[in-house]
Amino acid sequence: MTEYAVETHQLRKVYRSRLRKQVVVAVDSLDLKVPQGCVFGFLGPNGAGKTTTIMMLLGNVYPTSGSFRIFGEAISSMSVRRRIGFLPEKFQFHDLLTAEELLWFHGRLAGMDRHLLARRVPEVLEQVGLSERARSRVREFSKGMQQRLGIAQAILHDPDLIILDEPTSALDPLGRRDVRDLILHLKSRGKTIFLNSHLLSEVEMVCDEVAILRAGRVQRQGDLDMLLQVHPVVDVELRVPSERVMQAVRAVSSVLSEDGTSFTAEVQSEEDIPMLARCIIEAGGEIMRFVPHRESLEDLFVRVVEETK
Ligand SMILES: Nc1ncnc2c1ncn2[C@@H]1O[C@H](COP(=O)(O)OP(=O)(O)OP(=O)(O)O)[C@@H](O)[C@H]1O
Ligand SMILES: [Mg+2]
Repeated sequence: MTEYAVETHQLRKVYRSRLRKQVVVAVDSLDLKVPQGCVFGFLGPNGAGKTTTIMMLLGNVYPTSGSFRIFGEAISSMSVRRRIGFLPEKFQFHDLLTAEELLWFHGRLAGMDRHLLARRVPEVLEQVGLSERARSRVREFSKGMQQRLGIAQAILHDPDLIILDEPTSALDPLGRRDVRDLILHLKSRGKTIFLNSHLLSEVEMVCDEVAILRAGRVQRQGDLDMLLQVHPVVDVELRVPSERVMQAVRAVSSVLSEDGTSFTAEVQSEEDIPMLARCIIEAGGEIMRFVPHRESLEDLFVRVVEETK
């Protein structure tokens, strides 16, 4: 059995418009490896090629060259298609149907039998917080409710790989938290989630790995904790102010700011951070807070996109 849910090899998509004689390289030399059971963030500025990649993975857009495998198999295999759930970026539902009817319709199209649907439909509506609105028509739904329904549709047949193209763009903060919890719940059940989102603070909270795409090419890829730079700067808060501690801290670092019980100190390198903590404790300091500065995903995104311009 393969360890990757998605593996692409030099995947490329070129769109040609005959009318305007335009050639757009939407995706270029894409080598992705998405381990099974992880939450994978697929990031990049507008027009970077994210949706095009997803469309290729689903078999909706034919690659110009290169290849890919889903759970080690080609997308032409029906058994592999059944293992994928998908929330499109721009979804349009039959909005005269009720939420329940719509899920039944999609479930039947996916080949699910009636017994299974009778159990799964209420279950997924509950999971996305729409149980109360099961019998309302989709056209009466707010944008956020429609997005929740889209997620319910994507997980209805209990797929192993769930591809979500912008799942929280229309959701309020509570809705976003619900989706985050749902993603983590799915992960705890061994599912792989391929998430495409511009909401980087959310991605940072749920993703194990990310790839940052720009102009069709992957610029960075890997474990999120490894990609984010740690700065050798630490915010410290002590229980009580202590001149003895501050003297010890000044001996091993430069104090950038100081205010009562709190101070910020810079050491030589990341490796010296534990030494700073030890030195405070040895000088009798009681640490209430000790927070090394770390780059946010947004900082990393901006850094990568700017440096590859
Ligand atoms: N059907 C198409 N025909 C021609 N060009 C296309 C088509 N679909 C996408 N493109 C072009 O391919 C490039 C990548 O588009 P894509 O939709 O994959 O980007 P994206 O990363 O999903 O962007 P966004 O964050 O805005 O959703 C863009 O330059 C876009 O104009
Ligand atoms: Mg897109």
